[in-house]
Amino acid sequence: MLTAPTDIKQVNLQSNKAVQPGVDGVKRLTAKDPFVQIEITTKCNFECFYCAGRHMKQENMPWGRFEQILGKLGESPLTVSLQGEGEPTAHPQFWAMIDRLITLGHRPYIITNASLIDAHQAALKFQSIGVSLDTLDEAEAHRIGRYKLHNVLRRLKALVEVMGAARVIVHTVAYGQDIKPVSAFVRSLGAKHLIQPIQAKPDYAKHYDQGSPVIFWHHKRRCRYLEFPLMRYFAVDGREAPCCYIKDMSVFDTAQRLKAELADGKVPSACVGCREIATPRMKTSSVRS
Ligand SMILES: C[S@@+](CC[C@H](N)C(=O)[O-])C[C@H]1O[C@@H](n2cnc3c(N)ncnc32)[C@H](O)[C@@H]1O
Ligand code: SF4
Ligand code: SF4
Repeated sequence: MLTAPTDIKQVNLQSNKAVQPGVDGVKRLTAKDPFVQIEITTKCNFECFYCAGRHMKQENMPWGRFEQILGKLGESPLTVSLQGEGEPTAHPQFWAMIDRLITLGHRPYIITNASLIDAHQAALKFQSIGVSLDTLDEAEAHRIGRYKLHNVLRRLKALVEVMGAARVIVHTVAYGQDIKPVSAFVRSLGAKHLIQPIQAKPDYAKHYDQGSPVIFWHHKRRCRYLEFPLMRYFAVDGREAPCCYIKDMSVFDTAQRLKAELADGKVPSACVGCREIATPRMKTSSVRS
């Protein structure tokens, strides 16, 4: 049986790392220079059990919408991650989009499931790249929806070989599995390893087989993503949000309104359970058996 992460202190430290691209060696977050994320697709060739994207409308962002978003970004260079709840490399115009960012003077970034990525192309286009890897066990990887682990590992090793380990960041979601073998493997590669706990925010957790592992939330009144801002997130339909954690955009209006409600002591529905402002008390039972 897989148990939920119970070490909240460790969870929070890791979550901070995971949401700050600066610590990935990509770009430090500052008030003047928000990290840009564009969800170019919600489609994917994998079916990770924890992925909110599997329950969203499945679509690729059309080129025109991509250009409209680029037109709103302002001066380059910015770090622009083509990242949302889908596999970016599965977008039919993925490499053309990366080339367009480079032409405009931006630094492209992605986190990929590494099932399709070409290491040589990646080495030419990315300063650094994120790769998701949750387990080294082929059967377990298949069970959680990360298929053909041997293919993923082959491509990950190729990325390390061609780009150099310092440019590869391995991302692991802690959902209750034994992380030690993955950590040892990433160390042996010489790459960076970011472990982030499985999201407890209801936007994500409502899709887990056993529901949310959280029984109680304590919310703060201030969110860094609203104060600075730290991020400009563009969903696949082109809507802009102040962060990448609002998966139910039907409850989102404007960043200003979220900020005002929080300051007023109310927790906006879009923000309930967000690790940026919420401290959870977790159940000790499993996330998924
Ligand atoms: C949404 S994915 C998209 C990129 C790509 N398809 C991939 O899986 O690497 C980006 C990162 O978020 C992680 N992720 C997705 N759903 C999550 C959840 N419910 N809790 C924590 N991390 C999650 C993924 O494992 C991945 O490392
Ligand atoms: S590979 Fe990424 S986008 Fe695809 S299902 Fe898994 S987390 Fe979601
Ligand atoms: S969901 Fe709300 S609280 Fe969380 S980062 Fe986004 S704006 Fe801030």
